[in-house]
Amino acid sequence: MSFDFDTVPQRLGTDSQKWQKYAGQDILPLWVADMDFRSSPAILAALHERVEHGVFGYARPTKATASAVVDALALRYGWTIDPTWLVWLPGLVCGLNVTSQAFAQPGEEVLCLTPVYPPFMTAPKNSGRVSVTVPFALNTAAHRWEIDWEALEKAVTPRTRLFFLCNPHNPLARVFRREELARLAEFCARHNLILCSDEIHCDLILDPTLPHLPTALVAPDHAARTITLMAPSKTYNVPGLGTSFAIIPDSTLRAHFVRATAGIVAEVTTLGFAACEAAYRDSEAWRQNLLAYLRGNRDFLLDFIRRELPGISIEAPIEATYLAWLNVSALGLIDPVGHFEKHGVGLSDGAFFGSPRGRHVRINFGCPRATLAEALHRIKVALTAR
Ligand SMILES: Cc1ncc(COP(=O)(O)O)c(C=O)c1O
Repeated sequence: MSFDFDTVPQRLGTDSQKWQKYAGQDILPLWVADMDFRSSPAILAALHERVEHGVFGYARPTKATASAVVDALALRYGWTIDPTWLVWLPGLVCGLNVTSQAFAQPGEEVLCLTPVYPPFMTAPKNSGRVSVTVPFALNTAAHRWEIDWEALEKAVTPRTRLFFLCNPHNPLARVFRREELARLAEFCARHNLILCSDEIHCDLILDPTLPHLPTALVAPDHAARTITLMAPSKTYNVPGLGTSFAIIPDSTLRAHFVRATAGIVAEVTTLGFAACEAAYRDSEAWRQNLLAYLRGNRDFLLDFIRRELPGISIEAPIEATYLAWLNVSALGLIDPVGHFEKHGVGLSDGAFFGSPRGRHVRINFGCPRATLAEALHRIKVALTAR
């Protein structure tokens, strides 16, 4: 079975956050992390069926919805979870904020590694907690972003309560290896930290030799202090349906987390549950085709950069996600995003991810190849126009 990722609906003029940003301007939006593709046919069919039913009362997941998640985790990652460990949430960012509030007091610290998806740093601050960041170290010989263990140890204080991990990593597109995850779990245990592992990109691994390793599975002895956050949103392109979940094996930790959501966190909707079930149970062929298409886009991007974009480089392989972290420091631009916008391409500013200003931009290649090709051509023109 094959699927068409080259033909996409017009999103300009719709409710799309990605496309509204540049409405009225000739700028291709390759910034916020959603894809321009339609969701899988199975998801669309499930949504149509749910809409046909016509009643949209307060929702609870059915057994079948929970089973779709449980079965997918067992099949894909060999992770056996109990359905009672699932806490449904309207978003992962919400999960990061709830975790900050539930497990750290005002003034206490939450560690993460930068660059990273900005809410890792803003979630603690939203409720008066403190975000402490440790930069990844680039191993240029190995072409790999690595955890700076020494700096990490030094960053811990008596006020550190939590560690936020992004696995696979946005924006570095990196898949963590077993030794790293085991060492991180040991680090958290030794310092008595709760480990919150955001695995929203776990079904988007592009390198077929790299398995996704759920952090809680790699270190079962430490699973009791682990909160895993997942969602169908990135992989199946349904973030606008607001459906995600935390997996919290330890009942005390789970009760604490749930208490922090009470009366504040919105319920997942009927349409969200319908899409989630169809995503995990009925969309595997579509996902495999999507991964093949994204690999093609990644290779096209890498090739174009190598051949046509002097001054732009990618320091490490793109192992996962549809996001690439471009080093533009050789261009000497104070505002690289502004410069590329002037030439018709909308990227994300690396500074928001904790990277020094002017050094990196992030490009989202979850779009038809023709769009990517046009955007790269515009970037090439932008390079000659400095
Ligand atoms: C690592 C990571 N976590 C969370 C999110 C957003 O999650 P949600 O839309 O469910 O809040 C993103 C979106 O880009 C992400 O990359």
